Amino acid sequence: MNTESASAFDRMVGELQEMVLEDARAHYSPQVVEGWLHPQNVGRMGDADAHAVVRGWCGDTMEIYLRVSDGQIVEATFMTDGCGPTVACGSKLTSMVRGLPLGQAQEIIGDDLLAALGGLPDESVHCAQLAVNTLHEALTSYQRPYRDSRAQEEVACRAGDLMRQGYH
Ligand code: FES
Repeated sequence: MNTESASAFDRMVGELQEMVLEDARAHYSPQVVEGWLHPQNVGRMGDADAHAVVRGWCGDTMEIYLRVSDGQIVEATFMTDGCGPTVACGSKLTSMVRGLPLGQAQEIIGDDLLAALGGLPDESVHCAQLAVNTLHEALTSYQRPYRDSRAQEEVACRAGDLMRQGYH
C-alpha cells in the first residue's frame, strides 16, 4: 500500500470508528460509553480470594475476581467476552464493590448497577444482571470453604457426642 492509499485507509477507519461512537452515544448513557471505551479493573487475579465465571443466556461470559481482607473487598477485577455494555457493567460493578464489606456487596442488585450506569436500553438490561449474578457467585465461593469447615466441625462434634454416649 503506498502512502496515499494508506492515509485514505486510515481516514476510512477513523470515519468508521466515529460512526460506531456516534451510534453508541445515541443509544447509551455517557457512563456506559465511558466504561465501554475506557474500562477500569480489567484482568485476571492470580491470587484472588474469590472468583466466579457465569455464562449469561446470551452466551457471553463474565468473570469476577475479589481480594478480601478483614471482611472487606479490597480489590476487584473482571474479564468478559461480552458486548460493550457488559464491559461497562464489569467496570462499574468492580469499582462499586471496592472497599465494601462483604455483606453490603451481597446486597447489590441489578437495579443498583443500572442506576450507577445511568440506565441501559431494555435489550441490554440482562448484561447488568449477568455482572451482578457473577458478583454474587464470587461472594458465595468466598463463603463456601468457611461453611464447609463449619459443617465438618459439626459432624465431628456430633460423632464425639455419640462416642461419649457409647454409640460406637
Ligand atoms: Fe451478552 Fe451483553 S452480556 S449481550
